[in-house]
This record gives sequence, C-alpha cells and structure tokens, in this order.
Amino acid sequence: MKKLVFATNNAHKLEEIRQIIGDKFEILSLTDIGCNDDIPETAPNIEGNALMKARYVKEHYGLDCFSDDTGLEIDALDGRPGVHSARYGGVAHDSERNIDRVLSELADVPAAERTARFRTAIVLLQGDDVHTFEGKVEGHILTERHGTGGFGYDSIFCPVEGDGRTFAQMSGEEKNAISHRGRATAQLVAYLLA
Ligand code: IMP
Repeated sequence: MKKLVFATNNAHKLEEIRQIIGDKFEILSLTDIGCNDDIPETAPNIEGNALMKARYVKEHYGLDCFSDDTGLEIDALDGRPGVHSARYGGVAHDSERNIDRVLSELADVPAAERTARFRTAIVLLQGDDVHTFEGKVEGHILTERHGTGGFGYDSIFCPVEGDGRTFAQMSGEEKNAISHRGRATAQLVAYLLA
C-alpha cells in the first residue's frame, strides 16, 4: 500500500482521514515516522505554513506528505487572528484566552459587522507535484460562548449555513459536513482517490 505522511500528531485528524482512505493509503503521523521536531510555522499565511510543514517532511524523510493549517479570519479585525489563530491570546493552544481576546476586541462591534470565516489550506506533496486544497465556511462571531463541544473558537462561531447554533453546539458529523476542514479534506480525498 502507498505510504502518505500527514504532518500532524493530532489523533482526531488522523482518525478522520484514516477512516476515509485508510484502505487505499497507509497514513503515517509524524510520530510514526520518528519525527519529534518542532517544525517551523513562520509563513505569513496558512497556505505558506501548510507548505512549510509538508516540505520539511519531504526534505528530511523523503516521503510523500500532506499538511494542513487553519485560520479564523474576522473582517472587523482586518482578517485577524488568521495565521495567528492558535496563539492569539498569547499562549499556544489556549482556546479560552484566544476567545477572550477576540471578544474583547469585538466588544464595540455591532452584530451585522461581526462577519468571519474559517479557512483551511491543505498542501499535498506527491513525487514532484504540489497540490493545494482550500476549504472555508462563512459565519459570524457571537458576543458570548454557546455550547461545549468542538474546540478552539467553536463556541463563538455561528456558521451562516446552520440553524443558529455554534459549531460547539453541533455534533462532530454536523460540523464536519459544512466545516472548513471537512471541505478541504473532501477535496484532498477526491483527488487522491481519482
Ligand atoms: P490548526 O492549523 O488546525 O492547528 O488550527 C490553528 C488554530 O485555529 C487552532 O489552534 C484553533 O484555535 C483554531 N481552529 C482550527 N480549526 C478550528 C475549528 O474547527 N474550530 C475552532 N477553532 C479552530
């Protein structure tokens, strides 16, 4: 079976993709290939970061690879937190601080101007080919948290295609069906299986 590295150690993301294409490709995590490095993510946008991570694996391990990167773009904040979404509150992956900062920066912004989107870029390096896939979901930022599911900014993000619930109030399946990452992943899978 062809091997393909997913440049992540996120168990949830790995499980998801293995469920979809695990019988066609052997999906390896960073741990699986013995990579414990802190791979640099210093590009100015999510596409650049995804490419950096995938290139790192290709160069150091010589394996075909894909990588993803996601950002929340809030229009009233000129697209921030964007590529800085993971550490917007000052501490990496501290979602509560990230949300607190967003809510305080939007404190005086009226409902109609709280538009935002999640965007995911996936970069696939296969042989000498580079392919980029993008998924996005439009929505708006609430004034307080709603729901306890999901992760990251889910409790303050209400997708336009939904029924008024935040991502944190939806089941995983409901969220994946319309989410940025779900859409980018669907494109990657369609390409790999074509
Ligand atoms: P990553 O590139 O997937 O690591 O995402 C970067 C950051 O964006 C995460 O640390 C979260 O704060 C946020 N994020 C990514 N995906 C989601 C999502 O599906 N819901 C809410 N927040 C997310």
